[in-house]
Amino acid sequence: MEQRTRSPYPRIDRPVLAAVGILLVISTALFMWKQRNHDWRYYQYRFAQMVGEQFGADKVATVPAGIQQIWVSGLRRADRCTTCHQAVSWKGFEQAEHPYRTHPEGPLKTHPIEKFGCTSCHGGQGWAIDTEDAHGQVAHWEEPLLSRTLGEEYTLATSKTALMQMNCNTCHRYDRETAGAEAINLAKRLVQEKGCRACHVINNRGGTIGPDLTLVGEKAPEQYDFSRLFGQRTAFAWHVAHFKDPRALVTDTVMPNFHLSTEQAQALSMLVLSWRRAEVPAEYVSGAPRGDPQTPEERKAEEDMRTGPGGWFVQTGCFVCHSISVFNVKSPAQIGPDLSTAVDDVQKRFGVTLDAFLANPTGTMSVVLSRQIILTPAQKEIAIQKLREAFAEYQRQQAAGGAVAGAVH
Ligand code: HEC
Ligand code: HEC
Ligand code: HEC
Ligand code: HEC
Ligand code: HEC
Repeated sequence: MEQRTRSPYPRIDRPVLAAVGILLVISTALFMWKQRNHDWRYYQYRFAQMVGEQFGADKVATVPAGIQQIWVSGLRRADRCTTCHQAVSWKGFEQAEHPYRTHPEGPLKTHPIEKFGCTSCHGGQGWAIDTEDAHGQVAHWEEPLLSRTLGEEYTLATSKTALMQMNCNTCHRYDRETAGAEAINLAKRLVQEKGCRACHVINNRGGTIGPDLTLVGEKAPEQYDFSRLFGQRTAFAWHVAHFKDPRALVTDTVMPNFHLSTEQAQALSMLVLSWRRAEVPAEYVSGAPRGDPQTPEERKAEEDMRTGPGGWFVQTGCFVCHSISVFNVKSPAQIGPDLSTAVDDVQKRFGVTLDAFLANPTGTMSVVLSRQIILTPAQKEIAIQKLREAFAEYQRQQAAGGAVAGAVH
């Protein structure tokens, strides 16, 4: 038999071993106590009680125990929310407090939880099993629960639960309307009415005066200039303030002040922040075809104007921002003044002749003519000639006694 080597420290051997043993026992006890101490155990215990009270002991046996998880491979999400929110698919707990409340039925009918999980709509940290972690109220987690609580913090003007609609729109981006996402719907209408595409590319269509907005929701908080912003320094707050008064944040911007209400500015902020790369497979993206083409009515109206007497303004792209009402050209956005009387107005407004203005434009037109519509000197001559024709037509109509319908000024 092999001779055992003697311990070089025969006297401290035993105390050291004993100490290590005690430490092990303590840490195991601590670990178990910590596990025990997870809130979810209490919530499961309480929910089982509630089921017992309402449906009897038999039913209690059907309540699953332990950590619950919904694994949605298509969305690469593992959501453990139902560990605490056990009542989601139970009937009879509609009035209970959270987390014991039955889920509203509507959204889960069209989006079964096996296929959508929870976080695809609500945000939050799916795999966490403590309330604060799960609700994403922790540092470095970019998907906080888009909850009523956060909505209150953001002082939403209308529904405090509306923030969640940003997540709805990751998948419903190409819908013109989505039932249940009213704030997003309002914002989508505003994008059409206000003619944001006159200056911005959105979903591959639009002008180049402002930045492409297709993925603007991915801008990191560090990329915002908060120096002129008072109050909360979040991307959301920045956009709300920018929509209410672009120049207050970006002094030299040509983005117009649309005089939006708080509700409208907040809705638009939610919409633009929802414009992110969708990490969802095609079958999860509602609305085919994927894209955001003009409606047939919009296309028809544009075609009629293109072949009419004001056709040049349509072909050149001026009508994106200007109506020329004497030629029945109606701008969808009407960001600039009606050009029917520009010959006269330029003189009054800028104190220069039309020729001088187009040769050396100021304000929005200097950006338009340097970035979006580049005209050669010969083309500028044509522009001047067309604007004179419009004014002549205006004077003719005036002389004939008819007020020009729709002309501003
Ligand atoms: C450890 C238990 C626990 C887990 C896990 C958990 N929750 Fe909760 N949740 C609660 C409790 C408790 C409340 C009620 C108190 C509160 O709002 O903090 C609640 C409230 C909520 C509310 C209403 C909050 C509000 O402000 O209106 C939502 C929505 C919600 N949870 C969603 C989720 C989602 C989504 C997940 C998964 C990512 C999740 N929860 C995971 C315990 C949990
Ligand atoms: C299709 C999107 C969708 C999915 C998926 C979804 N929910 Fe919801 N959830 C909603 C909507 C919409 C509401 C109603 C919000 C409101 O009151 O306006 C809601 C409400 C809730 C509430 C109550 C919030 C409140 O403010 O009172 C909780 C808690 C909740 N959901 C948890 C969950 C959990 C847990 C899951 C996963 C098992 C889940 N939801 C899956 C859309 C969804
Ligand atoms: C992960 C992607 C995803 C999310 C998030 C999502 N949806 Fe959906 N939704 C879908 C898909 C896919 C369909 C099925 C659409 C289809 O068949 O064209 C659908 C269907 C619907 C329908 C029925 C539409 C119809 O034409 O029948 C409504 C309404 C709807 N969703 C609203 C919402 C709302 C509100 C939210 C946020 C609370 C939301 N969705 C979140 C993907 C999503
Ligand atoms: C006359 C041109 C013009 C119109 C019309 C216009 N914008 Fe802008 N927009 C700009 C310019 C230029 C900028 C860049 C300077 C700035 O931030 O203001 C900008 C910036 C933005 C930004 C910030 C982008 C970023 O990367 O920080 C958003 C969001 C935005 N616009 C949304 C809209 C929406 C939504 C509409 C319609 C309601 C709209 N814009 C209409 C010119 C325009
Ligand atoms: C992206 C929007 C946009 C486009 C496209 C655009 N404009 Fe303008 N334009 C404006 C705005 C806004 C004004 C008002 C002055 C300002 O805000 O700086 C203006 C002013 C003018 C004026 C002065 C009118 C007056 O009554 O004082 C003329 C002339 C003009 N534009 C001609 C054109 C022509 C010609 C084209 C096409 C080649 C064109 N614009 C394209 C936005 C636009």
